[in-house]
Amino acid sequence: MLNFNFKNQTEILFGKGQIKEAKSRLPQDAKVLFLYGGGSIKRNGVYDDVIALLDGVNFHEFAGVEPNPTLETLMQAVELVRAKNINFILAVGGGSVIDGAKFIAAAAHFKGEPWDILAKGAAFAHALPIGAVLTLPATGSESNGNSVVTNKATAQKRAFASDLVQPTFAVLDPVYTLSLPVKQVSNGVVDAFVHVIEQYLTYPVNAPLQDRFAEGILQTLISEGPKALATPDDYDVRANVMWSATMALNGLIGKGVPQDWATHMIGHELTALFGLDHAQTLAVVLPTLMYVQREKKRQKLLQFGRRVFNINNSSEDEVIDLTIKATQDFFENMGVKTRLSDYNLAEADIDKLVANLERNGMTALGEHGDIDLAKARQILTLAL
Ligand code: NZQ
Ligand code: ZN
Repeated sequence: MLNFNFKNQTEILFGKGQIKEAKSRLPQDAKVLFLYGGGSIKRNGVYDDVIALLDGVNFHEFAGVEPNPTLETLMQAVELVRAKNINFILAVGGGSVIDGAKFIAAAAHFKGEPWDILAKGAAFAHALPIGAVLTLPATGSESNGNSVVTNKATAQKRAFASDLVQPTFAVLDPVYTLSLPVKQVSNGVVDAFVHVIEQYLTYPVNAPLQDRFAEGILQTLISEGPKALATPDDYDVRANVMWSATMALNGLIGKGVPQDWATHMIGHELTALFGLDHAQTLAVVLPTLMYVQREKKRQKLLQFGRRVFNINNSSEDEVIDLTIKATQDFFENMGVKTRLSDYNLAEADIDKLVANLERNGMTALGEHGDIDLAKARQILTLAL
């Protein structure tokens, strides 16, 4: 096992009605930015619960954080924070709103050009504290320090990470997820599944506990994901999906083990250039990445196939082929298409994707740093 430090500062308030607990977690002198997205919270009752939570609290609203939040929109919120001396952000929504809150929190008192935090990894010393009310289980953003922001002007989707922007508390009420469109339920399950894979499907370092944690989350998503589509009103199913997605990317399973993240980095270019949903990009890239990296990932592919999908053929190569197929079938069964052509993309588009990877310095991806531009092209070409 590799060395690691582990601390997760986010207090999880999980279950029906738990938003009531959040009031006592707001700072005494809070001047709150109530941040949300395109308005789904006004249709499903979450907005009213937040307004009740903020009764007697000094707050300002900022609506309109879009899926794949943009620098352009978030900078408007930064201006509001600066103008009103806001000192706490309450992010209410999915990963996009929570990621957006993290950027605003870091940019608010940043002296230079805020985009440099993402584009150049510029350091920042202070960030406003954040609380989250999660409405879409997928990203794990509610209890991690990661944020992904898109610069529309330059067609770049970049990430930054810092403990300083990790939420102090997160309300996880599965009831809030009952209003999700089917597509977002599907996307969320696929995203959480791939988060586990990025931290699990690398090479063995004798970390059996991390492996079993990862396999437990994968198996839970494989069993509960389809149920969330078949019986959408089932609270318990939603609760299990929600907790799985949080556990998939709250840091725990990735400690002491190598991590990959190449699927995500290649996927970000698909969103930046062609607007695919985040989970759609992952469903396209992962199966062919597994195929191209099959020798480097051989031991873990075999373990994944045998333990998670119960594939027990005597030929190792057959186990690997069937494991890749089972992964792809799972995504398709969840309603997320797995070929570039399903999204009307063709060979010529791959040149643009590879050029953007190069522009963003994504030339040595994966747990071995061996996914260069040629390999990325191979992965994308096989996914046509
Ligand atoms: O904007 P509103 O009106 O709220 O609608 C949203 C949005 O249209 C809707 N929605 C959310 N909760 C709902 C709901 N609709 C009905 N009922 C509800 N309860 O769903 C749509 C998608 O929301 P979004 O927040 O964009 O989805 P998601 O949570 O999948 O977040 C995706 C973003 O997170 C980033 C992605 O790159 C993408 O930008 N990621 C963040 C990560 C992190 N912070 O650790 C890791 C991930 O790998 C990912 O990269
Ligand atoms: Zn993801």
